[in-house]
Amino acid sequence: MCGIIGFTGKQQAKPILLDGLRQLEYRGYDSAGYALGGNETPTQIRRVAGSVQDLVNATLEDTSIEHYGIAHTRWATHGAPNETNAHPHQAGLITLVHNGIVENYSELKTKLEAKGIRFLSQTDTEVYAQLLEEKRKEVLSQRASDWTKISNEEKESIVMEALRACAKEVDGHYAVLFLVDGVNDTLFGLQEGAPLVATEANGSAYIASDLQALLKYRSEMTFIPKGKVLIAARGHLRLFDASSGKAETPKFEKIEWTAEKVEKEGYETFMLKEIFQQPMVVADTLSGRLPIQESSGFIWDHLKAHEVLWKNVKRLQLVACGTSYHAAMIAKYYFERWAKLETQVDIASEYRYRSPVFEPGTVVGVISQSGETADTLAALRLANESGASTFSICNVPTSTIARESGFQYPTKAGPEIGVASTKAFTGQLTVLCALALDVGRLRGVKSDGAISFQGLARLPHDCDQILQNSKEWIELGAKLSTKKMTLFVGRGTLYPVALEGSLKMKELTYLPSEGFAAGELKHGPIAYLDPEVAVIVLAPKDELYAKTMSNLEEIKSRGAMLIGIGTVGDSKLQETSSAFIGLPQCSLGTLPILAAIPLQLIAYGAAKALGRNIDRPRNLAKSVTVE
Ligand code: M6R
Repeated sequence: MCGIIGFTGKQQAKPILLDGLRQLEYRGYDSAGYALGGNETPTQIRRVAGSVQDLVNATLEDTSIEHYGIAHTRWATHGAPNETNAHPHQAGLITLVHNGIVENYSELKTKLEAKGIRFLSQTDTEVYAQLLEEKRKEVLSQRASDWTKISNEEKESIVMEALRACAKEVDGHYAVLFLVDGVNDTLFGLQEGAPLVATEANGSAYIASDLQALLKYRSEMTFIPKGKVLIAARGHLRLFDASSGKAETPKFEKIEWTAEKVEKEGYETFMLKEIFQQPMVVADTLSGRLPIQESSGFIWDHLKAHEVLWKNVKRLQLVACGTSYHAAMIAKYYFERWAKLETQVDIASEYRYRSPVFEPGTVVGVISQSGETADTLAALRLANESGASTFSICNVPTSTIARESGFQYPTKAGPEIGVASTKAFTGQLTVLCALALDVGRLRGVKSDGAISFQGLARLPHDCDQILQNSKEWIELGAKLSTKKMTLFVGRGTLYPVALEGSLKMKELTYLPSEGFAAGELKHGPIAYLDPEVAVIVLAPKDELYAKTMSNLEEIKSRGAMLIGIGTVGDSKLQETSSAFIGLPQCSLGTLPILAAIPLQLIAYGAAKALGRNIDRPRNLAKSVTVE
């Protein structure tokens, strides 16, 4: 969703801000803008509805040499995605960018309008800027100061007080970054639930909503905790508690991701690169964790705490959104089968608004690639507040969800830039499969042989084998792009895989698509079938093969185009289908991981044939930080 970048230091700010916006593009946005602070002149803003490139093109004549500023990519929530609603927003001396939502903006706006303030945009952000400016004027008059005559330090202290007063009146989870005319070379930020990360390097200070925008400057970064104010000036970062105003020392952490990892490296899109990284992701995620022998456990970081977490578990609740939710659905099969553990799976936006029961022995696991998804974070907080033991499976170890969870099982997928999640899903399933096996061992459940650590160990090789045929699946996808609709069906762990295949298809192609449990077909969805519809059936030679094969006949007799995904060498499935994809012989546990890969490639091929923006599909954001 929205992205923030700020810079104050020795270099010219504009190129640094625009480069930062490019690094944040993958999050999804519909307008962009920047503001450059002038020590002697009022702050100038430039904004466009459209892309960062549109902003670059529209501001070619702007050769300002200012050394500090802020910039933003906006994903519209309040007000249409147009230039007026794009950030930064200005109110008097304040110029501000914002991520997240001001929940009580309408009430605040009414109060401000009653004071005679006129609004130019429909955004909640402008309300924040206006309120902050009002507070600044109030503090100034309480101190009987003249803004034009006081020192930079006194101005800073006035702004700090105004910001703290403003934060008390605003409800919501958000982050703001702003500059104030007259407070030279200085940026102010507040983290109130949306991420802000910062670093200092060579006399300059950099701030962003996402570490990706800062990786090229320094690998040590400080994650601004919730409720803290950040002041950046002359290459230094200072931190203050928003409630008490007390100064604190920023803590810097070393980040393992490198800037090189966020390049396409010769692939036509990030998504394709990420699909091809999956064998490596599985290998990295398992690296150092596989047991030494069958009877010993997986080697997690903080092994003792891991054992304590699962010692008295009675039931598991898995909570997530989107693709991560599909990983949770598959994990339900894993935990129930191999750990004999009652497992409930929930969509985070539903879970947080019902009344989940947290009996003693309830463990809650949240799954999130980004670790910033608003609903998943709220679900985690609910579980933490209710006293349940919690853990996270996240791809960003420094994210809010990872930090706030009781225990972390990180995936090692590296930065995922394509909005459509691929390698992160594979990483999540790898961890979940290993975890279910290990929890089964801790609970003394006898293995049924359907998965073993040896099966997991050969997974990178199996993924690699599937990718050998990528050209074929991409071409098949192109054929499906002419169909009215594509349905995906499967049973057992392949039912959530069918849902995931369908999600990939609709988000990338914008064409209708649905996923079903194969057994549900004749309870309604069969009415869709006609020759203009394609059905992808997941039917490997597992325990449910015969059942799925009978669904196949039902589909064929309605004239739909049938694509079979099954075990390599299955001549029966091959003969019945218009197109066939063979999966390598593998264990039941790794099957859903492998079966998802051709579906990613098919959706990719369909989107490519339709000329879609594959890395940034319309209306979507990579990190959904508002509910
Ligand atoms: O970062 P998260 O895993 O929490 O994100 C959850 C969903 O927004 C995400 O999986 C989304 O469904 C994917 N982009 C779909 O490909």
